[in-house]
Order: sequence, then structure tokens, then C-alpha cells
Amino acid sequence: MSARSECAAAPGQALDLARLRADFPILQQQINGHRLAFLDSAASAQRPAAVIEAVADYYRHDHANVHRGVHTLSHRATEAYEGARDKVRRFINAASTREIVFTRGTTEAINLVANSLGQGWSAGDNVVISHLEHHSNIVPWQMLAERVGIELRVIPIDRRGELQLDALPGLLDERSRLLSIAHVSNALGTVNPVKELVALARERGVPTLVDGAQAVPHGPVDVAAIGCDFYAFSGHKMYGPTGIGVLYGREALLAQMPPWQGGGDMILSVSFSGTTYNELPYRFEAGTPHIAGAVGLGAAVDYLAALGMQRIAAHEQQLLDYATARLAEIPGLELVGTARHKAGVLSFNIEGIHPHDLGTILDHQGVAIRTGHHCAMPVMEFFGIAGTARASLGLYNGRDDIDQLVAGLHTAIEMFR
Ligand code: ALA
Repeated sequence: MSARSECAAAPGQALDLARLRADFPILQQQINGHRLAFLDSAASAQRPAAVIEAVADYYRHDHANVHRGVHTLSHRATEAYEGARDKVRRFINAASTREIVFTRGTTEAINLVANSLGQGWSAGDNVVISHLEHHSNIVPWQMLAERVGIELRVIPIDRRGELQLDALPGLLDERSRLLSIAHVSNALGTVNPVKELVALARERGVPTLVDGAQAVPHGPVDVAAIGCDFYAFSGHKMYGPTGIGVLYGREALLAQMPPWQGGGDMILSVSFSGTTYNELPYRFEAGTPHIAGAVGLGAAVDYLAALGMQRIAAHEQQLLDYATARLAEIPGLELVGTARHKAGVLSFNIEGIHPHDLGTILDHQGVAIRTGHHCAMPVMEFFGIAGTARASLGLYNGRDDIDQLVAGLHTAIEMFR
């Protein structure tokens, strides 16, 4: 079965939205009597049939445990699992499959680094993050702060939701153990200049982690060009299955890091006098992995690669511009996050209407958005708000979705008038 989209086309050609939407079975339904305008892909994107079928085919025909059996099915499952690892490697331009660790998602990938690399840290060491981070890039470091006394340092942001980059050099010093930074803010859509940030840290010998959960689905990502030591992302935000994600780690660094979870597959030999650990990347994949998840992620990578990440980025940027202009027409609407370089996230509040009420009224009109703090409470605190309504774009969204959102917002304003 091919995971390629019917819409595969020349790089410069625009996406054929009608054909592309036909790839997504979940979009072919009505919600509360209206066409579904799914504007919540930052929380979790939808899956094309190619991904759903790849997972189903795997379970139907090829499933067994990986790396363990001599029988045919175990060989097939191992090939499928390792094949997916190589697809991911190519997709982000990593040098070797030893640098691709499968995890449950971005959160687990960051926790892996905190619990493995962090084993060598002590009181007085520091980790530098930013005020824009998702909780998954705050709390693991706070837990380490509680355990061993590391200090958490935070790059401030401005009212646009951009990082105050000139603060970074003053935050990095000889006790800095890691710069850990989002590529794209999930709450505001700000695209951070990760290449420059990474270069600044590297000049000072500080390793870097980039949380790419909101970047990988929306444009080309090249870990070699970014120059980071770690890059974390999730399958379910890039049209793949839930429960699977990736930690890219530079091999030289990963090779020095101790395992963080013990169990099957991460060892070479075990006796009561001692255990020797497996080679990369298996040393960081204890227990039976999410094989079907990896297979589905491989299919998602095929799907995205066939569409072309440049084309997806161009489509979403045009739509972001359109959506930003349409939202500006709405009386009392304030956009939260107006960075000059943004991905397809529109966070906003409308005077006098709670975001949860907005979300509920929009749902009645078939429009799905997320409301609340978006697991980024420090961002909300900075703007002095409890939360926002957030519309986020995926490759299947078009102007019709934005028009439906805008019409829904007018209805909400009417109701609250
Ligand atoms: N991190 C996801 C979001 O931004 C869940 O909604």
C-alpha cells in the first residue's frame, strides 16, 4: 500500500485542497449540523487514510515483537519498525538512525534528556529556557531543580510574544548545562530563531535542545542545519498516531548519556553481577516499543514528504495572513501573539466573552478550536489573562474554515450583546 497522497505535485505548485481533504476520512462529517471546520491541529492533527491503513495493515499482516524473534513475523515487524526510523532520519536530515530514539512523544523525549543528561548535574548548574515554553519544557527542569538544586533561567518575551534575544548571552555561563527552547510556540505561534539561539549556545559550549512539536508538521526541519544537539517532536501533531514521538540526539552526546529506563531491549546482557547496555538508539528504548505507532509515523512522513514541506509551509502562511486579516475585522477581538515570524496559530480574546463560551458556541457551528491556557500558563500570566481561544491551522485548512470561524465569532458576539 502506498502512503503517498494523491496530491503529490511539483514543488512550486499549490496544494489541491479538495483532493487533499478527501485523504482525511474524519473531515467528511458534519458536527452539530454543520461542515466540520477543524482548527485545532496544534493540539492534535487528523490522520490521512494512508496512516490509518498503514497501522491497520501492520496489525493485520505483520505484527510480532521486534528485535526478538527468529520467525517471519518478527522479522517483518522489525523491518517495519526500523524502516520507520530511517524515514524519520531522512525527514529531519539526521546523520544516522542511531540518532533517532522513539519515545511516547515530545514530553517523554524532554523527560528522557532531563533524566539522562541531567544525571550528571548538581546544585548550582543551570538550564536556560524561555518564557514561551509549553509546560513539557518547564516542569521536567523544575523537577530536576527540586531533586538536585539546578537553577532555571528564563529568556524574557515582549508584548508581541517574541523572545528578547539580547538577554540570552547574559543568561549563559560556565554552569549552563543546556539551552532548551521551543522552535514554535504552541500558545502564540511565534517562530523562534533557533539557528541563531543554538549558535550562541554552541559558541559557549552549551548543549541545546529544541522542542519541535509545533514546527515539524508545518515546514521543513533540518537538524543538521539548525545545529542542535537534541530535537524533540510528536507523531500525533504531524498527522501520525498518538503515543509515538521522536528524540533526535547528536550521536556523540547520546553515546555518553546513561539510560533512564531499564528493561528489555535496552541491554546486551544481564546477570546479577551486572548489566551491559545496548547500543544506540536501543539503550533508550526499554520494553516493547509502540511498533504500530512507529509504522504509522513512517506513513505520515511519507505523506508529508509527498506533499512537500515547502508547499505545506507556503499554504499555511497564506492562510495565516488571510485569517489574521479576517480576525482584525471583528469588533473587540484582541490577538495575543503578534510576532513578526509566526506559524499558523491564532490566539485571541473577545471583550466580554470567556474563551470557553466562545469555544462552545463555535462547536455548535461545527468549528473546533482549543480554549484555555494551552499548557503554557507562564505565557498567559505574562499577558495578564487566564487563557485564550486558539485557532490553529493544518495542511487541510482553507479559507472556508476561516470564514466559518469568523461567522461563528459574529454569532457569539450577537449572543452576548
Ligand atoms: N500541546 C498541545 C496544544 O498546544 C496539546 O494544544
